[in-house]
Amino acid sequence: MTQTRPDLNLELQELIASMEQRREQVEAGGGEARQQKQRDGGKLTARERITALLDEGSFLEYGTFTEHGGGALMRGVEAPGEGVVTGSGTIGGRQVFVFSQDFTVLGGSLGKMNAAKVTKVMDLAARTGCPVIGLNDSAGARIQEGVDSLSGYGEIFYRNAVYSGVVPQISAILGPCAGGAVYSPALTDFIIMSRGSSYMFITGPEVIKSVTREDVTFDQLGGADVHTRKSGVAHLEADGDEAVLRKVRELLAFLPQNAREKPPLRPTTDPSDRANTELLELVTPDQRRPYDMHRVIENVVDDGQFFEIQPDWAKNILCGFAHLGGRVVGVVGNNPKYMAGTLTIDASDKAARFIRTCDCYNIPILTLVDVTGFLPGVAQEHAGIIRHGAKMLYAYAEATVPKITLITRKSYGGAYLAMNSRDMGADVVYAWPTAAVAVMGAEGAANIVYRREIGASENPDATRAEKIRDYKDAFDNPYVAAAKGYIDDVIPMEDTRRRLIATFTMLEHKQEQRPYRKHGNEPL
Ligand code: HXC
Repeated sequence: MTQTRPDLNLELQELIASMEQRREQVEAGGGEARQQKQRDGGKLTARERITALLDEGSFLEYGTFTEHGGGALMRGVEAPGEGVVTGSGTIGGRQVFVFSQDFTVLGGSLGKMNAAKVTKVMDLAARTGCPVIGLNDSAGARIQEGVDSLSGYGEIFYRNAVYSGVVPQISAILGPCAGGAVYSPALTDFIIMSRGSSYMFITGPEVIKSVTREDVTFDQLGGADVHTRKSGVAHLEADGDEAVLRKVRELLAFLPQNAREKPPLRPTTDPSDRANTELLELVTPDQRRPYDMHRVIENVVDDGQFFEIQPDWAKNILCGFAHLGGRVVGVVGNNPKYMAGTLTIDASDKAARFIRTCDCYNIPILTLVDVTGFLPGVAQEHAGIIRHGAKMLYAYAEATVPKITLITRKSYGGAYLAMNSRDMGADVVYAWPTAAVAVMGAEGAANIVYRREIGASENPDATRAEKIRDYKDAFDNPYVAAAKGYIDDVIPMEDTRRRLIATFTMLEHKQEQRPYRKHGNEPL
């Protein structure tokens, strides 16, 4: 707002007025009509989004008066703020950097100077050790700026990769995100999409129609439903800009400022020795009775609060954040309610990525195991379950954060290892009395080991049943593995919360050094 200051000399008054007038022009973005169009589409403007995201009054803008990068096709074109608003502020009192693409200015398209504004805040974030949050709403490469625009993307992608694991990077998708532009969010730690008003794809419906003759809408091709349920590209979704931005704030509360710090503590009144008696009803010894691992997690963690990541994709495995005794933990768990909790290609990718995210940001990992194995089938084999399953093994072995594994019921075969067994680097392994650790289930094992005896028997069914019983007595329990030191203790179910909190406390100052290497060659 321009204010007259009669006490100042005339020249200074004019300079101030000019600055304020220029600022007002920038803040108006593409003008009232385009901003209204944005609101009519149920969206906030770039600046309103920043206001909704950050603590009140905390935003400091940089690059305010940046102009576009020129070029023959940009002559005479106005681009207030260069199509992106950038700066720093706080969320819950913690400093973050933010860029918010302004669709009202040339469709939020990315030109050379637009990219320079974005990379400026990314560099400041890395130097000061603070998270970066990108609010994406852009028509992609600015066509008029040609290769300069592509170069701008390159500068951003490069930093997304170089700062990966240095500071948390979160992408909110609040409008179009198409073409190569999708790769900046894809290189960040988390993608949160707004349902119904955002989409991500490499080639749009028109190109697809001309190449493959498939008819598809923007939403069917790359809306929030697609990426949170089918492709696994996005981690979370919410209804509308404000809900997405709230999720960003919630998510940030589980992350540290940077890779050298720990996530913030969240004090709780939930007693650390609260008995988990409900678990006795939930998880019975009858292995054919499935249960929902969500209920186990909610029963054990502080205040029953579990912030799930990718809740609607690969539901046979659960990943998410919670607190135990005030400390953040990453939880990975098989969910016997879906596909008997078997490990699939998608489940392996989901868990491997989450484990790596936890390890980057000093978040201890709790692994809850109830798994019969990798999902058998030609489709899974041909699509590369070997390659994908290997990612999970690699991620667990590579992670040096405190790792506790709790076997709730079955833990068989290769999946026993993929769910962070002792040998794969778990610091402490617990089991409930309901647990069973073996190479495979009793039925399968008896059929293989005693095939001849069963075949030669006068009553094969009775012999099979007897052999299954024998095998169960011998192996379908936690004590064989405990006897050999693969399980550190078999614990009462109701004592789970107390034991986990006490054990993570014991591991708090864990240090683990690995042999020198440039970087590992993880399976991809
Ligand atoms: C410059 C652009 C632009 C672009 C849109 N505009 N796209 N300006 N470069 N890429 C301008 C329009 O001229 C218009 O200006 C304003 O932005 C809003 O666009 P509309 O089309 O009116 O909006 P809407 O109807 O909502 O449609 C949105 C849209 C459409 C679906 C995103 O604009 C569109 O298809 N744009 C082209 C997308 C695209 O092909 N981008 C390049 C992708 S390739 P006025 O002045 O009228 O407001 C790419 C490669 C990246 O991104 C590679 C990285 C490695």
